[in-house]
Amino acid sequence: MKKTTPLYEGKAKILWETDSSDHMIQAFKNDATAFDGTKHEVVEEKGILNNKISSHLFGLLEDEGIRTHFVETISENEMVVLRLDMLKVEVVIRNVAAGSLVRRLGVKEGTRFDPPIVEFYLKDDVLHDPILSEEHVRALDLATPEQVDTMKREALAVNVVLSNFLSQRGIDLVDFKLEFGTKNGELILGDEISPDTCRFHDSSTGEIMDKDRFRQDLGGFMEAYHEVLNRVSS
Ligand code: TMP
Ligand code: ASP
Repeated sequence: MKKTTPLYEGKAKILWETDSSDHMIQAFKNDATAFDGTKHEVVEEKGILNNKISSHLFGLLEDEGIRTHFVETISENEMVVLRLDMLKVEVVIRNVAAGSLVRRLGVKEGTRFDPPIVEFYLKDDVLHDPILSEEHVRALDLATPEQVDTMKREALAVNVVLSNFLSQRGIDLVDFKLEFGTKNGELILGDEISPDTCRFHDSSTGEIMDKDRFRQDLGGFMEAYHEVLNRVSS
């Protein structure tokens, strides 16, 4: 498959059109951004690590019967994916209180949620990705009621598979963000699953192994991504 034109460039990835109308090439960049892009650095190896971690985790989900856009890894920082029409919502699952939930609701960091919390956010940096109720998602025509139900069900299924897989490798899945799109009317999981879009904590030490190391200037940013890759590929 050959790249033709870059169709979309985001903060961390470029999506290329290809000579197949059904497929795109998703290239992971070395850019690290946070706080709506106001914090930005170029970090060597980040694209490679996120491509490898995402490839592993999408492969795992596919093996467990969850439909994703992942087709194959074709280079160190690129994967072939299905061409989807992306919905403008982000779906966040929270197993443990962290990040914006703690800031917004004053919940104590580390509080465990069982069942996990499912949230929707509008994908819009200018508006700072505001949180949406299911009613907002429907009223703004961001997804149909059936798609809302499917996204919730799929995101919770992803959570079960990833949480179990990661806990066997000493990683606690605190929270994560998913994005979905459609192809011929079918809702399919897209985007990426990486330490950029998940919170991973070491199960025994509580050590942060994700993009919070960058957001909070904790150091050891890529070392943590390397460790995640080592564990998910073991
Ligand atoms: P939050 O605590 O900042 O709301 O983030 C919850 C989870 O979702 C965390 O794992 C990071 C991820 N996330 C993204 O990947 N992209 C985003 O734009 C946001 C808001 C969160
Ligand atoms: N939406 C946030 C950002 O703009 C996501 C993050 O902090 O990872 O960077």
